[in-house]
Amino acid sequence: MTRHFLIDTDLSQAEQTEVLDLAAELKQAPYSRSPYAGIDTSGINADGAATTGRQTVAVIFDKTSTRTRVSFATGIADLGGVPLIIGAGESQLGHKESITDTAKVLERMVSTIVWRTYAQAGLEEMAAASKVPVINALSDDYHPCQLLADLLTIREHKGTLAGLTLAYLGDAANNMANSYLLAGVTAGMHVRVAGPEGHLPQQSVIDLAIARAAETGGSVLVTTDPAAALADADVVATDTWISMGQEPDSASAKDATYELFSSYGVDAAAMAQAAPDAVVLHCLPAYRGYEIAAEVIDGPQSVVWDEAENRLHAQKALMVWLMDRR
Ligand code: CP
Ligand code: NVA
Repeated sequence: MTRHFLIDTDLSQAEQTEVLDLAAELKQAPYSRSPYAGIDTSGINADGAATTGRQTVAVIFDKTSTRTRVSFATGIADLGGVPLIIGAGESQLGHKESITDTAKVLERMVSTIVWRTYAQAGLEEMAAASKVPVINALSDDYHPCQLLADLLTIREHKGTLAGLTLAYLGDAANNMANSYLLAGVTAGMHVRVAGPEGHLPQQSVIDLAIARAAETGGSVLVTTDPAAALADADVVATDTWISMGQEPDSASAKDATYELFSSYGVDAAAMAQAAPDAVVLHCLPAYRGYEIAAEVIDGPQSVVWDEAENRLHAQKALMVWLMDRR
């Protein structure tokens, strides 16, 4: 049965490890796997003939992107395929044609559908109608591909994942916070997220994280106290205080948002509360002087450029893994 990757918990702990192991392998040998270079389609064609050739992967964006766009396009090419990048507003999807009808057309031509969109429900509808894997390239609720890259980066710098403590500060109700919770505990980590009242994860996400943590030995802390999250943390992470699609409609509303989050910035004082050898993650794009100080993101504890590069390796591994299960 076709597997999809819509939310971090779509991979079990063992499966997540398989994908991360494969990502490490592909980082060393970038052209060693080629799932899109040609698959046997006998039984699909009316004449039953086996055919081979380069496969196409659709990569659809309803929101802007640098890393996701470039890493998927490069990764698909590395894997022998052809990336078909469809920018916001360039297809009929969402305005002239339903998600389900779009899926029924795409699945006949492409080998995988990668989609950055708003509602998680849209991704679920796409997956329900698609015989080919659907990958969430960021929704309002989750950014699971980013977390595969983050976990790969942590593993490279710390040698392990299970048992480590990760502190996330900032908008703890956004897609990154949710994915840190779910992917982090899937890896057996102790995940602490801190944000102001009104910007904490939904209870359903916390419950899902607690249930997964019970299976893996991880744990969950949701707090308004940044110090409680940071204490002796092995990994410190943050993200923009204003996510795509949530931009305030006035300068004063923007200032109010900055004020609300002002005690959740990752600066030198915050880093002094984490473990001395803590590493710093940010999915990027970053707003220096707001959620992260320039001296931190550009300083010796920052691993954000490795993290950005690892999008490529992690997503290639994910695509290989999903194609192996078709
Ligand atoms: N981190 C990330 O997803 O970056 P882009 O929005 O540039 O794709
Ligand atoms: N939370 C951010 C992540 C960007 C990669 C957003 O959704 O805009």
